[in-house]
Amino acid sequence: MTKFSLILTGFALLCLVLLAAAWPPESKAQGADEAKADLIKRGGQVYKTRCQLCHLAEGKAPTKNMRFSDDEWRHGNKPEDVEKVVAAGVKGTAMMGFKNRLKPEDIKAVSAYVLGLSQPQAK
Ligand code: HEC
Repeated sequence: MTKFSLILTGFALLCLVLLAAAWPPESKAQGADEAKADLIKRGGQVYKTRCQLCHLAEGKAPTKNMRFSDDEWRHGNKPEDVEKVVAAGVKGTAMMGFKNRLKPEDIKAVSAYVLGLSQPQAK
């Protein structure tokens, strides 16, 4: 073998290794995780403009009812519960309904985002 063909073989092997590392193409489960990450990212943008002035950054509002960083959800902690509160608001409080102010996808996104701020151990 000449030096040149050795280098060539080495290069071909390197290409194979790189190809194997990138294989297999992303699985379906990964796709679902990514969709969720996208939803939360979009929710974070909505949160900054529409919610943060009351609920503060990362949901660390000083009053309990407005705090998302603890693990207490007065109105329920399922995605549907939170979406309902965000859409309809809480009567008699400053929490207004957003169903006429936000698109349904944005309500879903921002709800996923605030749920994600919840930390079970922090009170
Ligand atoms: C004008 C201030 C204000 C704004 C803006 C606001 N909120 Fe609220 N929010 C409140 C108050 C006050 C409460 C507490 C209601 C209560 O006493 O139950 C609350 C409660 C909530 C709850 C219920 C929490 C629980 O423990 O169940 C959720 C969820 C919520 N807000 C989400 C949002 C989202 C998402 C946005 C932005 C789209 C938003 N809020 C914007 C004032 C606000």
